[in-house]
Amino acid sequence: MTKRKANLEEVVIPTLGLLENPGLLLVSGTQEKANVMTIGWGFLGNIWSIPVFIIAVRPSRYTYRFIESTGDFTVNVPAKNMDKIVSACGTFSGRSVDKFKEFKLTPVKSEYVKSPIIKECSINFECKVIYKQDLVPERIEKNIIDNYYSGGNFHRLYFGKILNIVVDEDYKEKLP
Ligand SMILES: Cc1cc2nc3c(=O)[nH]c(=O)nc-3n(C[C@H](O)[C@H](O)[C@H](O)COP(=O)(O)O)c2cc1C
Repeated sequence: MTKRKANLEEVVIPTLGLLENPGLLLVSGTQEKANVMTIGWGFLGNIWSIPVFIIAVRPSRYTYRFIESTGDFTVNVPAKNMDKIVSACGTFSGRSVDKFKEFKLTPVKSEYVKSPIIKECSINFECKVIYKQDLVPERIEKNIIDNYYSGGNFHRLYFGKILNIVVDEDYKEKLP
């Protein structure tokens, strides 16, 4: 399937619509060695007149070290037959399994960043980290701490400048 370029306005609604359910696939690394994990939290918007994809990654994730090392990532919107894969990529860690191989995902070279995109996904964002910020525990409401951070492991927010968006020609029919 050939991919074509798209602009943010075209893909923002389907992307945000799938973020919490089933989730999106975050990739970081290189063409030779990359890791993929599921994300359910994120933001698409503008800051400093720059279009950004903001993601939240806990330091315990294997993916975290890839983003720290490459300074970039891709966000990949799954197609309709991929729910089980999305769930598995959010359950297993790349420390113990090569999720690309195990779940038959194909890494494809990105145009602008080191991290590959996933061929099987219908919408792909290439993002370069321009800002990162750890959540500050003292500034978070207590009930959120109780619900999400009883064990610490506070998310690091990565602001990814969106350098490129590509879609499958028939992405609308392929979305879940
Ligand atoms: C639907 C769903 C959404 C998730 N969203 C996030 C997220 O936004 N940030 C995060 O750090 N972990 C999130 N996770 C958990 C990671 O995907 C999971 O811990 C994964 O196994 C980490 O893989 P890794 O160790 O290979 O990086 C989510 C899991 C699921 C199932």
